[in-house]
Amino acid sequence: MTELQNKNILLGVTGGIAAYKAVELLRLFKKAGAGVNVLMTDSAQKFVGKTTFEVLSENPVLSDLFFDTESSVKHIELATRADAVIIAPATANTIAKLAHGIADDALSTTLLAVTCPVLICPSMNTDMYQNIRVQRNLDILEMDGWHILDPDSGVLACKTVGAGRLPDPWFIFDRVGAMLVKKDLKDKKILISAGPTVEPLDPVRFISNHSSGKMGYAIARAAEKRGGLVTLVSGPVNIDPPVGVECIDVQTCEEMAMQMLANLDQADIIIKVAAVADYKPIDPKTRKIKKKENENNLSILLTNNPDILEQIGKKKTSDQFLVGFAAETDDLEKNALLKMAKKNLDMIAANIVGSSVSGFKTDTNKVKLFFKDGSSFDIPLMEKDKVADILIDHVIEKME
Ligand SMILES: Cc1cc2nc3c(=O)[nH]c(=O)nc-3n(C[C@H](O)[C@H](O)[C@H](O)COP(=O)(O)O)c2cc1C
Repeated sequence: MTELQNKNILLGVTGGIAAYKAVELLRLFKKAGAGVNVLMTDSAQKFVGKTTFEVLSENPVLSDLFFDTESSVKHIELATRADAVIIAPATANTIAKLAHGIADDALSTTLLAVTCPVLICPSMNTDMYQNIRVQRNLDILEMDGWHILDPDSGVLACKTVGAGRLPDPWFIFDRVGAMLVKKDLKDKKILISAGPTVEPLDPVRFISNHSSGKMGYAIARAAEKRGGLVTLVSGPVNIDPPVGVECIDVQTCEEMAMQMLANLDQADIIIKVAAVADYKPIDPKTRKIKKKENENNLSILLTNNPDILEQIGKKKTSDQFLVGFAAETDDLEKNALLKMAKKNLDMIAANIVGSSVSGFKTDTNKVKLFFKDGSSFDIPLMEKDKVADILIDHVIEKME
């Protein structure tokens, strides 16, 4: 179940070269279980035919207020029913009309009657996009409370390079989902750590662990969508930085400790998901350790790393909510409860690692939440994105 399931989406397509991408966007909405109605300008139909949108949306396209519709007030009906409106691509012309309340075609007239959230996805040549009039019109729409999705930069259809490309359909889809999510973390500051740390042995080798960062990144994405101001301190991972999240990249436990403590005071919620190396080489070499003939064994002396969670647990105020993760191979509950008490946590999310469907690297997870008040909650095996949302539900409930 996504935010878009059973929602009524109004997709406006205008006459830009990227109009073809709106077809893929429509398919994503349909796949997510949304009902979609498409509005097209006359110019849009010069780029992509109505038929494609009609077949894929399973609805007639509204493009002419006076001739197209089975109902004479179809535009008002669509506007009233809509849960979200997306204009992708949005031309400079349509942006100007919308900013000034002009209603001279089906799309612009319908948009005047819309009261739900609107996402405008401008797409055009870079000089057009940077033109002061276009920027002014976008500012007007933003001030009126509509969402503007910045275009991507890259090679454009006109062979120039710069800002103006319509972002990938899946990215627009993701932002529409974010627009529809309840903003129950609005203005809350959330500090999250994720991924592994790496502790150098020499310039080419290190000690680390199997953490992929997927759980921490899922929590960061979910918190941002719910209106949180998220800072993510991350060890090295192969995941794109989440949109709208302040990302701080670190390597070692000491770097992670420094960044977490530097950002601690302003945080309302701290969620420490990172798998930090407990030990580091006591004497990392500045030159590569060479293989020695006639020596079968090599000893590396390790020393303790700082315990970040314990330090945060000692410093945190009663207004701050601290969540830790326990990745265990055995005695899950006992070890998790001990860790919660020792580190002064408000909640601990415990999972068994080493399974092929939960823990490190997997896209799914099975977690048991334990709370300071003695209660607990089982999250059955599910996608990490969904685990993240349920975990946040519980944090919010306990903070109330
Ligand atoms: C080949 C071609 C590509 C165009 N691409 C864009 C574009 O990407 N963005 C844009 O704002 N206008 C673009 N235009 C100009 C618009 O089609 C034109 O301003 C039109 O009036 C927009 O009408 P509409 O906003 O009602 O769809 C393009 C025009 C042509 C001929």
